[in-house]
Amino acid sequence: MKFFLDTGNVEEVRKAAELGVLDGVTTNPTLLAKENKSFREALLEMCALVPIVNGEVVATDAVGMITEGREIALLHPNIVVKIPMTTEGFKAIKVLRAEGIRINVTLVFSPAQALLVAKAGAYFVSPFLGRLDDIASDGMRLLRDIIEIYRQYGYETQVLAASLRHPMHVVEAAKLGADIATMPYKVFEQLFKHPLTDRGLDAFLKDWEKAREVLGDILPEAAKAKK
Ligand code: E4P
Repeated sequence: MKFFLDTGNVEEVRKAAELGVLDGVTTNPTLLAKENKSFREALLEMCALVPIVNGEVVATDAVGMITEGREIALLHPNIVVKIPMTTEGFKAIKVLRAEGIRINVTLVFSPAQALLVAKAGAYFVSPFLGRLDDIASDGMRLLRDIIEIYRQYGYETQVLAASLRHPMHVVEAAKLGADIATMPYKVFEQLFKHPLTDRGLDAFLKDWEKAREVLGDILPEAAKAKK
């Protein structure tokens, strides 16, 4: 499973990329609007850090989306253009795809929409799981349905589980076989944590210190380097 960070913040991307398990970034207008950086600058800095960066159009008519989509795609080869799940969006997808631009269809909330996205040949489909859960619907059910339909026909569109709110969303999406999970930095950090890991490490270090008092440095070279 690929991990994307869902953020407009370049520092978060930098910190996550340092850990070696980050595959890309999804941005959206809401996330980028929180940052004190131009859209262009933020996307370019992210492209220097990860191989895939999703940048979203804000026009709502096909012509506007095509113009913006071309401009965003031209910024960097790592860019995937996000287009909303609308009929105008589909007109834009047809044109942009023919030009070799990779498309992520965003704001997907039903299996029927996801089926259309695959037929249109999008690179990614983004079902928003958390937003469905927010309205007492079942986000994971949507993900399961999409994966089942895509497998049935061998569609190549990659399923990008979006709007993930906590680590179990990521785990459940992985169990269902989502290609990608995009998550806020906080969720990414939470994936690393377990209280038993902290407690276990603490006990190992205390025991090591006690043994060192009796045995001296067990790894003398490393101990020298520390001093
Ligand atoms: C994905 O591309 C979207 O930016 C994102 O996952 C939306 O998440 P939210 O519902 O937490 O805003």
